[in-house]
Amino acid sequence: MRVGVPTEIKKHEYRVGLTPTAVREYVAAGHAVFVQRGAGSGIGAGDTDYSKAGANILDTADEIFAKSDMVVKVKEPQPSEWGRLREGQILFTYLHLAPDPEQTKGLMASGCTAVAYETVTDRRGGLPLLAPMSEVAGRLSIEAAGEALKRYRGGRGLLLGGVPGVSPARVVVLGGGVVGTHAARMAVGLGAEVTILDRSIPRLRELDEIFNGRVRTRYSAADNLEAEVFCADVVIGAVLIPGSSAPRLVTRKMLSSMKRGAVLVDVAIDQGGCFETSQPTTHDATTYEVEGTIHYCVANMPGAVPVTSSHALNNATLPYGLSLASKGIKAAFEDAHLRAGLNVHQGRVLCKPVAESLGIASHES
Ligand SMILES: NC(=O)c1ccc[n+]([C@@H]2O[C@H](COP(=O)([O-])OP(=O)(O)OC[C@H]3O[C@@H](n4cnc5c(N)ncnc54)[C@H](O)[C@@H]3O)[C@@H](O)[C@H]2O)c1
Repeated sequence: MRVGVPTEIKKHEYRVGLTPTAVREYVAAGHAVFVQRGAGSGIGAGDTDYSKAGANILDTADEIFAKSDMVVKVKEPQPSEWGRLREGQILFTYLHLAPDPEQTKGLMASGCTAVAYETVTDRRGGLPLLAPMSEVAGRLSIEAAGEALKRYRGGRGLLLGGVPGVSPARVVVLGGGVVGTHAARMAVGLGAEVTILDRSIPRLRELDEIFNGRVRTRYSAADNLEAEVFCADVVIGAVLIPGSSAPRLVTRKMLSSMKRGAVLVDVAIDQGGCFETSQPTTHDATTYEVEGTIHYCVANMPGAVPVTSSHALNNATLPYGLSLASKGIKAAFEDAHLRAGLNVHQGRVLCKPVAESLGIASHES
């Protein structure tokens, strides 16, 4: 198959769909790989590195899309890319369609087959292609919170870990999945006081074991959530209902009962956000203030550390990408886990949670 890798064009997105290491694997498996000139510059991979790995370098995104049977990206295609996709072409990337009706329409109109990283599943019920970026974003969320807590950023002026004789910050993590666990790990490492809320009792049990009593766990009922959020210095929004828009757990009304200068990091912003007052921000302008609280809602957090993120992402996507490249879309219809990633095919939405979130008909078979 002919596999294409365009340069990412979303603002401050420096990751790349295939690293030279991954290109070498595709080429070894007999595929032709086309990489846009400069596509790897954000991770320090030059065109020569890609050529050495066996890729053909092309100058423009138009050429990449035109020549490829499958386009491998990182972020969802931007409006200027929708028109470059065509019927029968496979798009393999993050999509996050549930809160994005415009992109969904763009993909449906193109006729392409769009396989979304974030809804591919594995045998253990996990989301193996979301997990590596969730690990990165979870860890980054605490760095972001630490920065936003500084007084000159509008925060409370607290050090996450405190110092001997002065209390550490209280960090409340909503959702104890991959993001939440990695956020908690960083926060605990810095000496913060950490509470994780989740709706899954088995997950709360696992977290209790993992952290060996170093974090508090609470069931995510409205009463508990309010009590924790009102005392928090930092709230990390890390919930997910796969494929669906995030539930709005922190309302605008709740903000007025929070501490002034408290920081809310909405990692779930890519699924629409789990705070009522969340609006996507970028790495250029990461935060804004609402009711005296600081919101951080960057939708592509891992894009800030593209070297770590691109390698972690490629490690995870490689077997699925190779399977699609070898068998075409048949790979997705044969494998239930890859099938779960099939979001749009021949102008129809095939992922039920996405269709439900958008209020359109699902054609899931
Ligand atoms: N902003 C970014 O750059 C970025 C990067 C990676 C991931 N994400 C997003 O972060 C979010 C979390 O991803 P993840 O990989 O950790 O998902 P996950 O599935 O591993 O974990 C989600 C957790 O949320 C819990 N949950 C669901 N409803 C809840 C509720 N009402 N209250 C409390 N907990 C609840 C689930 O039980 C689960 O444990 C997703 O929206 C994902 O897309 C964002």
